Amino acid sequence: MDSPVRVLPRKEDLPAAGLAGTAVAVIDVLRATSTAVAALAAGAAALRPCAGPEEARALAERLRAAGVPCLLCGEAGAVRVPGFDLGNSPREFTPEAVAGREVVLATTNGTRALRLLPEGVAGVALASFLNASAAAAWLAARASPAGLVLACAGTEGAFSYDDFLCAGALVDRLEALRPDGIVPDDLARAARDAYRQNRGGLAAALAACRHARHLFRLGLGEDVAFCAREDVYRLVPVVREGRVVPAWPELHEGGNARYT
Ligand code: MLT
Repeated sequence: MDSPVRVLPRKEDLPAAGLAGTAVAVIDVLRATSTAVAALAAGAAALRPCAGPEEARALAERLRAAGVPCLLCGEAGAVRVPGFDLGNSPREFTPEAVAGREVVLATTNGTRALRLLPEGVAGVALASFLNASAAAAWLAARASPAGLVLACAGTEGAFSYDDFLCAGALVDRLEALRPDGIVPDDLARAARDAYRQNRGGLAAALAACRHARHLFRLGLGEDVAFCAREDVYRLVPVVREGRVVPAWPELHEGGNARYT
């Protein structure tokens, strides 16, 4: 069974992409999906992606009124929104800060990408370099004739090379997991080749990207090296009933990790 693999370069491409029946991995390396992985790995109960700060404030108020421990997190222009508990630096999401709490998160690109996904997709996961192999295993288990989609968030409507490199990391891993089962489109093949050319120096490759340079100017450059690390975590954030929760590997025959 051949499963097409498509790369979408920006979140703006999602609404018209024809995603029915596909399994989708949303990618926002700098920094929303990296933050989501770090937060869930640190013990956050769930992530609640919001389309903007006002929606996030309202949701946090509702959760707190219902007695649900939560944190109000997110960025505008890549810096913490005034009055929020945390910004969008994955380094802030430590066990001491987030364990056992719902993380309400609003970001410019990554959480908005999640909110642009249409009904009818077969499943949604969040991918980053931090959990690339885990995300690839999750995708491989969902390969189907409907296909797999690697949805890059991009940055404010522009293509982001950092997300594209991560999409390539996923294609590289998918080809290893399902050598005869997947058929990357031309953009997926280009992403794979770009990743293979840069995997020995991802931190430097990311540091040269437009959004990374913006983070450095803001004094947030340490996030770039943090987000460039591969396979630090084995969890896959997955969307379930509007919440993003961790899927952990169940080892199956041959030690292959499967994510249910
Ligand atoms: C995002 O993560 O949505 C944006 O890329 C902005 C950032 O947090 O750097």
